[in-house]
Amino acid sequence: MKVVVKVGGSLLRDGGAGGLCDDVASLRAEHSLVLVHGGGDEVTQTAERLGKAQRFVVSPSGVRSRLTDLETAEIYAMVMSGRVAMRLVLELQRRGVTAVSLSGLDGGLMRGVRKKRLAVIDDRGRKMMIDGGYTGKAEPADPRLLSLLISSGFLPVISPVALGEENVPLNVDGDRAATAVALGLNADSVVYMTNVSGLLLDDRLISHLSPQEAREALPSVGFGMQKKVLAAIEAVEGGVREAVIASGAAKAPVSSALMHEGCTVIS
Ligand SMILES: Nc1ncnc2c1ncn2[C@@H]1O[C@H](COP(=O)(O)OP(=O)(O)OP(=O)(O)O)[C@@H](O)[C@H]1O
Ligand SMILES: [Mg+2]
Repeated sequence: MKVVVKVGGSLLRDGGAGGLCDDVASLRAEHSLVLVHGGGDEVTQTAERLGKAQRFVVSPSGVRSRLTDLETAEIYAMVMSGRVAMRLVLELQRRGVTAVSLSGLDGGLMRGVRKKRLAVIDDRGRKMMIDGGYTGKAEPADPRLLSLLISSGFLPVISPVALGEENVPLNVDGDRAATAVALGLNADSVVYMTNVSGLLLDDRLISHLSPQEAREALPSVGFGMQKKVLAAIEAVEGGVREAVIASGAAKAPVSSALMHEGCTVIS
């Protein structure tokens, strides 16, 4: 099977990706894998250490996003492709996996459409339009470079930076980036590995949802998980057979997710 695994920044931050990397190393014999990672919190920390305060906005539908000017886009790309991707590549290399880190800029493998204007809710709860800056939505990835790497035995590790129309770096959401890669590769499964077991509603783990049921649940889902549920819906509606949200801290987490154990499946 072709499987895209999104590695949540939440796991990398807590040093909790070791078990996941062990599992990835052993699953490669059976499946074609591509990794996409997140790491927004790490971008925020580094930006603030560099003296660049980060601001976030919330859309009328409740989705939170980073206000991204060019300087922030550059810091975002630097931290994602440098620090976060490097750590993941090193973890994999230690396990004998020939991992290669790339962002959407490399070979133009993931293009993004810039959000020219963003609808946001201000402090007083009023809707207003602001400049979208260097944020965008990832389009289905170009599979050519990825297929070349996979067929030569390399494991692509992709950072959530997309190539904008004007050849600028765009901040794209990591979960949506995983969907874009899954759609471009025509993957069988996309697995979003995070620091919780899946979608919780009233403290209960939801084991299965159709895309429509998932859409109906969205208003009661909090930040972080909401983006995953949206990304999962887009993947399944775009033709990926299943999207799984699961804990990356469990034992053999990718294998368990592919067997639908203790997680949320959208199909
Ligand atoms: N209904 C919900 N069910 C489960 N988790 C939820 C829910 N609502 C909000 N969350 C939060 O979503 C978080 C996961 O998303 P988050 O964006 O923090 O991690 P990540 O996507 O793994 O990391 P990154 O965004 O850096 O890649 C959980 O830790 C949890 O706190
Ligand atoms: Mg997230």
